[in-house]
Amino acid sequence: MKPIVYCNGEFVEEQNAKVSIFDRGYLFGDGVYEVVPVVNGQLIDKLEFLARLQRSLSELELEWPCSQIEYVAMLETLIERNELVEGSVYTQVTRGVAPRDFSFPDNTPTTCMAFTTAKSYLSSPQAEAGVEVITVEDLRWKRRDIKSIALLAQCLAKQQSKRHGCYESWMLEDGFITEGSSSTAYIVKNNTVITRPNSNDVLPGIRRHVLLELAADNGIAVELRAFTLDEVLTADEAFLSSATTLVMPVVTIDGKPIGEKKPGLITLKLRQLYVDRIKKQAGL
Ligand code: PDD
Repeated sequence: MKPIVYCNGEFVEEQNAKVSIFDRGYLFGDGVYEVVPVVNGQLIDKLEFLARLQRSLSELELEWPCSQIEYVAMLETLIERNELVEGSVYTQVTRGVAPRDFSFPDNTPTTCMAFTTAKSYLSSPQAEAGVEVITVEDLRWKRRDIKSIALLAQCLAKQQSKRHGCYESWMLEDGFITEGSSSTAYIVKNNTVITRPNSNDVLPGIRRHVLLELAADNGIAVELRAFTLDEVLTADEAFLSSATTLVMPVVTIDGKPIGEKKPGLITLKLRQLYVDRIKKQAGL
């Protein structure tokens, strides 16, 4: 079966999806995106996805390409057309096609596209072993709370971790970890989960939101504050979260062990709680 993608109102084979070179996403990175996990053919954390897309669109004064109900229906059709059981949907909205000018064009329809990626989520050998991260300088702009498609600093960061044979880069600013290049960063110390509060400095991760809720419901203490590299090195556990990794234990940073250099108990507990929540949502 050939992959089907969505592009501006049509479901087409991927080689037939065309966007103009004058699209502002292509010229300026002027757009926003989302990645939504799919399990058992169902979109996971759908309301949180819609709320964050709404927020990113409105921060950039972008219009919805269609109603939220139509948007979800489009993604569900895409999942069906690709017979996707487990994986994710990527979708983005840009300011559309207009002559190259920095200020916004008038009355230009947005460009909207989506595609699916198959991936095994619920069982992950990496989550059993844990992953390694390095630290890099955070080179990003000052509105990291917007899920902008302009991701060059994150690409540079991820490339560095790849070069070191690591899974992710944790970005440092003023001595503190901000987040991963494509994930939220956490440590656990004395049975307390520590992660940054939401602000313009980090993306408000949907997994973060859900995990903090699950922690509160299950008596796991949380402290919302920034932490340093030294604190990671003396932490009992560390982990990251994202739409594509759920909860992923981190066992080394810059080649040095964290805790016992194996997935920690609180990390594994949170992963299990999130997996259980997903299974319930997906009707499994
Ligand atoms: N990235 N921080 C950054 C910078 C991210 O890019 C992401 C997600 C997260 C985690 O957010 P969430 O739990 O909502 O996925 C945090 C996605 C997966 C990506 O760009 O592919």
